[in-house]
Amino acid sequence: MYVCLCNGITDRQIRQAVEDGASSMRELRRQLGVCGNCGRCGPEAREILCQTQCRVAAEKVTIDLPPVPALTQPAWAAG
Ligand code: FES
Repeated sequence: MYVCLCNGITDRQIRQAVEDGASSMRELRRQLGVCGNCGRCGPEAREILCQTQCRVAAEKVTIDLPPVPALTQPAWAAG
């Protein structure tokens, strides 16, 4: 979907730029030209920037859980 009509920038291009390291609207403007003319695309581009940053950060989160204890047979069932 086109986000910036002035420069023909799509949401996919913005997501890719953020995944490649762009972390601000200033960087998106410098790399893609988004929001560099009329500015109407600014709110949507910012939303895509934030959503993509959250997704990328969430993908890096790992949770260390303790090992699951081995199941043992109860004493009453062993006999
Ligand atoms: S729509 Fe992006 S600068 Fe105009």
